[in-house]
Amino acid sequence: MNNCTIVLAAGEGTRMHVPTAKVLLPVLGKPMVSWVLTAARAAGVEDCCLIVGRSGDEVRKKVGDKVSYAVQSERLGTGHAVMQATAFLEAHRGAHCLVLAGDCPLLSAETISEAFRCHLQEGNAVTVISARVKDPFGYGRIVRDVTGGLLRIVEEKDADADERRIDEINSSAYWFETDALLEALPRIQNDNAKGEYYLTDAIELLLRAGRRAGVSVAKDADEILGANTQRQLLALQRIAQEKILDRHMENGVMFSGEDGVLVGPDVTIGPGTVIHPGSRLLGDTHLGQNCVIGPDAILEDSRVGDGAQIRSSTIEQSVVGDLARIGPYTHIRPNSVIGERCKLGNFVEVKNSVIGAGTSIAHLTYVGDADVGCRCNFGCGVVTTNYDGVKKYRTTVGDDVFIGCNVNLVAPVTVEDGAYIAAGSTITHNVPKSSLAIARARQVIKDNWVLTTREE
Ligand code: UD1
Ligand code: CA
Repeated sequence: MNNCTIVLAAGEGTRMHVPTAKVLLPVLGKPMVSWVLTAARAAGVEDCCLIVGRSGDEVRKKVGDKVSYAVQSERLGTGHAVMQATAFLEAHRGAHCLVLAGDCPLLSAETISEAFRCHLQEGNAVTVISARVKDPFGYGRIVRDVTGGLLRIVEEKDADADERRIDEINSSAYWFETDALLEALPRIQNDNAKGEYYLTDAIELLLRAGRRAGVSVAKDADEILGANTQRQLLALQRIAQEKILDRHMENGVMFSGEDGVLVGPDVTIGPGTVIHPGSRLLGDTHLGQNCVIGPDAILEDSRVGDGAQIRSSTIEQSVVGDLARIGPYTHIRPNSVIGERCKLGNFVEVKNSVIGAGTSIAHLTYVGDADVGCRCNFGCGVVTTNYDGVKKYRTTVGDDVFIGCNVNLVAPVTVEDGAYIAAGSTITHNVPKSSLAIARARQVIKDNWVLTTREE
């Protein structure tokens, strides 16, 4: 049978003071629960069940149906939360179950895997991931016997003065033998300070039943940090960011400053690329080598080739080719593909369009729903008029097309290869190959008009 994961995510996050489910709050642009799921998967556990509460629908919408869900309609404690996944656990008998807290995003796959090795090696029914911290206040403490063996976990509120001095804390991440967890769950009681069903009580129950329980100490105590308040969330983000920037710097990425820089956990950056302040690289974003990014570049779920330059611009769900020069002040909206060596400049917006290699669109232009060929030149102020108030239409522009300033391309319309369009034209009909289209009123001169009208 397969190993599985249960993620506790029913918390309402009242102390966050936001209407959003706590586990959806982002750390470096990625919801906390997604960090946890990524770590579980990277540690080799695919089958996952999320325990959700009242904000379950919101979580479901964001996380999707790659995982199972169990609903905990009343928040009666971590043990009670896991009880809601009994059917899921039954389907995973004969293997091991990883339990994680949805609000502890920094726990790494390495720490999870290390704990699993210890769990198997020691033949434990349960292995707790612990950490030694300077300030254990608020956490459950790991109580060991004189030989160092795990006795139980005691919560802050239930601990006596001696126990409160213990600096080894429970991370709220555990490996259980699935069958042992199923045995222990129905026996957990709520006779404690909080009147909750504590998952931590499973340890004493299993020990009393003659099973083994062990501890795997996380090497890096930062990994077990949880976020209960906005302040803690910001602190987590700072810790995560430092680690991520370190990793990129090891790979030859240069940061000219850290101010306002956000780099998400799944972003990859090629060596020799320079990131300037104010740049936010988020989601599924991948940058090539020797790029110059920022200052103030925002990239979300986008791919950028080698040697590209992106200055003070926003790129969303799009692809930018090698050696492209973007910005300042360019907005590339979703589903766009910008070819190699393209130049997009000041106040240019591109949406749902393909721009061929070497094309230059330098100023004050809107390109939406268009397929543009290679080596074209768009003058200042070109607009694809793609919307008639009801439907959107596409514009097609061939290779080597020259479009003068202030041209409207009224879609659907096609401009064939090598055509020229005169400045100020409003193009409503297709323009044939290598032709010149002029679609504007002819200029009229009235000699001495000013003088004559003034005399009147
Ligand atoms: C828990 C542990 C404590 C550990 C600490 C680490 C217990 C009894 N205590 O305490 O030993 O040091 O985490 O951060 O387990 N949750 C539910 N349903 C519930 C209660 C909680 O889904 O009914 C979820 C929360 O959303 C959260 C996680 O379980 O993701 C931990 O719950 P929380 O209330 O934060 O537990 P702590 O008191 O911090
Ligand atoms: Ca907590």
